[in-house]
Formats: sequence, structure tokens, C-alpha cells
Amino acid sequence: MATRIVSGMQPSGSLHLGNLLGALENFVRLQAQHECFYFIADWHALSTNFEDTSNIRFYVREMLIDWLAAGLDPQRSTLFIQSHVPQHATLFLLLSMITPVPWLERNPTYKEKQDNLEGRGLSTYGFLGYPVLQAADILLYKGNFVPVGIDQLPHLELTREITRRFNSLYKAIFPEPQALLTEIPKVPGTDGRKMSKSYNNTINLSDTEAEVRAKLKTMVTDPARVRRTDKGNPDVCPVFTLHKSVSSPAVIDRVNRECRTAEIGCIDCKALSADAIIARLTPIWENRRKLEHQPNLVDEVIATGTQRAGAVARQTIEEVTDAMKI
Ligand code: TRP
Ligand code: SF4
Repeated sequence: MATRIVSGMQPSGSLHLGNLLGALENFVRLQAQHECFYFIADWHALSTNFEDTSNIRFYVREMLIDWLAAGLDPQRSTLFIQSHVPQHATLFLLLSMITPVPWLERNPTYKEKQDNLEGRGLSTYGFLGYPVLQAADILLYKGNFVPVGIDQLPHLELTREITRRFNSLYKAIFPEPQALLTEIPKVPGTDGRKMSKSYNNTINLSDTEAEVRAKLKTMVTDPARVRRTDKGNPDVCPVFTLHKSVSSPAVIDRVNRECRTAEIGCIDCKALSADAIIARLTPIWENRRKLEHQPNLVDEVIATGTQRAGAVARQTIEEVTDAMKI
């Protein structure tokens, strides 16, 4: 049987270059060899955004457009929206019956997020149960591998524990899913920290060429290189880190040499990295433009994906309820 890949993304805004290089390109590669189920986790988005839901539908659609523009192929992969397949909620409920609360309370991302987002009322039942919903997402499709970033490992471990508990309590119907850790390149944002929506330092797939160039101009560099004639140290410069993710070996090599001797200045160096990013994003922009003029196509992709995912999900729920004798 083919290996099944399952993964989801929360629709929390426009996708950025870090998402593209870290996750999306990997999703695209995997679909050539495996049966892939990729979904937009809009219920998960509610766990932290339940007070203001005004953007969720818009972000869901934008994310689907970004996915298609970046090369996810609805013929090869099943692309869908979590809330359109209500069996996710059914399995979430059933799994919640066998999941001890202490397993959830000791989840490191739970405590961490609760501290970080203090004052946003994250003492909800749904937020605590976030990993159970994630387990349901994966098990519903009997996923073998789950491409995720390292931050998701605790959630994956919980999924595996819940899987083992289900299999031993009732019937071994689920494979134990494994994380497929992608080598996530460190993509710095314009302020030098990790590129992240919450830091407001991103280059988005929906940016224009002019926006990309303007953002690059503001990017921080080696702080010790003040004047054009100062020699720089690329090893401490976020622009160089970015080059390593997006530029050709020849350009990386050139910057690495010419920065140290002050042959190249920061303005030119940044322009080179903007060129590389723009070359990377141009085909995505072209696809995006086409998709924006074909709203029906986006709707069709969603309908087809929902149908395909729903068929598998219904089958699994039948097996689950049989195993549980309810
Ligand atoms: N929790 C994941 C994230 O924040 C998103 C997600 C939801 C997910 N359900 C999933 C990822 C199932 C993999 C599999 O990135
Ligand atoms: Fe950074 Fe490039 Fe300037 Fe060197 S030349 S300090 S690598 S921006």
C-alpha cells in the first residue's frame, strides 16, 4: 500500500517565504511519490482566534490560492478544508474519551503558548484539546508520515500515544504516524529574527516585486559594518543567511568573499538577494494572478478535495465505531 502523508496548516495569514522554503516546497515534493492529504486547519485557528473570526474565511481561501500557486496539484493530492469534513469532529470527540487530561497538561507547547499569549483567555477546553483534534486529523486518513516542523514534535508524540491507546483498547486499526522532519532552512526575517508573522518581518508570497525590494532595503546587516568601506562579516549577517536559502552557489560564494574585503556593498548585496527571491516568487505570482481570475476553479478544488477526503473519513469512522462497538 502506498505511504500516506497527512499534514495541515493553520490559516493564520498570508504565507511567507519561510513557510514556502520550510514546509510548502516539501509538500510539493512529497506529492510526486506519495498519496497526500493536505488540509487547512480552520478549527485549529479558532483555538487562539475565537474572539475575532472575521478573517478566517478570507485566510482559508488565500492559503488555498498560495498552495495552488506554489505547485500543490489537486489532481495528485487531496486538498481540503478541515471544517468541511465534519468527521474530524466525530473522531476528536471519540479520541477525547480515551485521552487523559494530564497528557495534555504536560504538553510543552500548551504551557508555552499560554504564557506567550497571556491575557487572551487561553484557558479554554478547546485549546487544551488542540492536540487531540490534531490526532484526529491524522488518524482519520491513517497517515503514515506527517511532514511538520520541529515545534510540532510534542503534538506528534501525543498522537502516537493516543494511537497506541486506541489500538490496544479496541482494535489495531491505525498505523502509528511518524513525523517527517524536514530540514528547515533558517529563514531570517527583515529584522534578523526568525521569519514569522507574529514578528511582522515577513516577505509574503502575495507581496509585489516592489514590496520585496523595499523590504530587503530595510533588512538588518552586520551591525559592525557601518560605512561602505568597512569590511563585513557575512557569518553574523542575516542577509547572508537569507542568501544561503535563496541564492545560487555562485552568488553565495561571491558575497562570502566580497563582503569580507568590502568589494561589495550592502546595498548591492541586498539587491542580489532580492533578485533571487523575486526569481523564486515570479512563477508563484503568475499562478496567483491566474487563480485570482478563476474563483470557480478555487471552489472546484475545494469541492473535489472535500469529496475525496470525506469518502476516506466516513470509512474510517465506520471502522472506529465498529471497533468501539457503538
Ligand atoms: N498544529 C499544526 C501547526 O500549527 C497544524 C496542524 C493541525 C497539523 N492539524 C495537523 C499538522 C495535522 C499536521 C497534521 O502547524
Ligand atoms: Fe551582510 Fe551583504 Fe552587507 Fe556583507 S555585504 S554585511 S553579507 S548585507
